[in-house]
Amino acid sequence: MNTKMIITGTEGLTKEDFNSIRDIFKGGGLVAFPTETVYGLGADALNKDASEKIYSAKGRPSDNPLIVHIAKFEDLYAITKEVPDIALQMAKAFWPGPLTMIFRKNEKVPYSTTGGLDTVAVRMPDHKTALAVIEAAGGYVAAPSANTSGRPSPTLAKHVYEDMNGKIDAIIDGGEVGIGLESTILDLTGEIPMILRPGYITKKMIEAVIGPIAIDRAITDAADFKGKPKAPGMKYKHYAPKASLVIVEGNKEAVADRINLLTMEKQALGFGTGIICAEETQSLYGNGIIKCIGTRNKEETIARNLYAVLREFDELKVDYIYSESFYTPNMGNAIMNRLLKAAGHQVITVE
Ligand code: TXA
Ligand code: MG
Repeated sequence: MNTKMIITGTEGLTKEDFNSIRDIFKGGGLVAFPTETVYGLGADALNKDASEKIYSAKGRPSDNPLIVHIAKFEDLYAITKEVPDIALQMAKAFWPGPLTMIFRKNEKVPYSTTGGLDTVAVRMPDHKTALAVIEAAGGYVAAPSANTSGRPSPTLAKHVYEDMNGKIDAIIDGGEVGIGLESTILDLTGEIPMILRPGYITKKMIEAVIGPIAIDRAITDAADFKGKPKAPGMKYKHYAPKASLVIVEGNKEAVADRINLLTMEKQALGFGTGIICAEETQSLYGNGIIKCIGTRNKEETIARNLYAVLREFDELKVDYIYSESFYTPNMGNAIMNRLLKAAGHQVITVE
């Protein structure tokens, strides 16, 4: 398949591009597009055959449900059985934005979109092009992150191109995304609202609007939890770099000493090594490929660069990567959720 590249400027989609995207969706095709979190791989969410194609393009397990993206709040009513009051409060506070909410679905939403579940995840992205894409599709776009299953989510159109060229109809290049980590997922179908995936919108921000909520134990006890995460996608070994990734945490000098030691040991054995660190501590490292991921006092820089750095290390073919930890004040939980997964929970604590 020939994948068409569409580049948007500050004006967003041209009329001509809008029409060609509308035609692709009408024909049941797939279009990758930017959002404020990560790039999404979109299909008409109400077209069973179209959303099925997403699974094969990504190599995604068929029990892993997709998020339905909408552009207008009232469209939520057409695909759900009930919209609880707290959803209204949450939408008012955070939509459009990096928040996905889970509802009971109605018969309009095919099971291929929800991975066989009777619930549906819905999000209204805060991104001009994404909203135009949703309009072009007729209001409902099923879109997982636009990466091959198991690779880091794309934060640049070139990441989408690497994974999807030849497999989908079009890629819309809208430049680098703003946030760089996927949306916070909040389940509203249980007794108490529950975070199933941490993101830019934190527990504290949500509780300021709707009061106490829970976090899925699959996130809080991730290293030891043996049960089933409530978001099926959270059980897969996501974001796994090709190299073995180990996180070293503790005071910054001790962390640097240990990482330098580990790096030298591996290099002596002939392995390629990489280091992921913050700008503040970069000068403490001297060996192997050192990648500065961002600045600790601007945590959004760390969130935005994480996936790109993991992809860069894949290209560099290093065997071992050592990373500092990044428990920053707001997005720290989301950043570390992804980084710990990428590391398969290999953590060394030093004094
Ligand atoms: O920021 C985002 O959410 C991005 C952009 C493109 O919007 N999308 C995204 O989609 O991250 P994806 O497919 O990579 O992750 C969706 C997650 C998966 O872990 C999936 O299991 C979970 O949401 N999910 C979807 N529907 C669900 C449902 N009905 N119940 C529980 N979990 C659900
Ligand atoms: Mg994903």
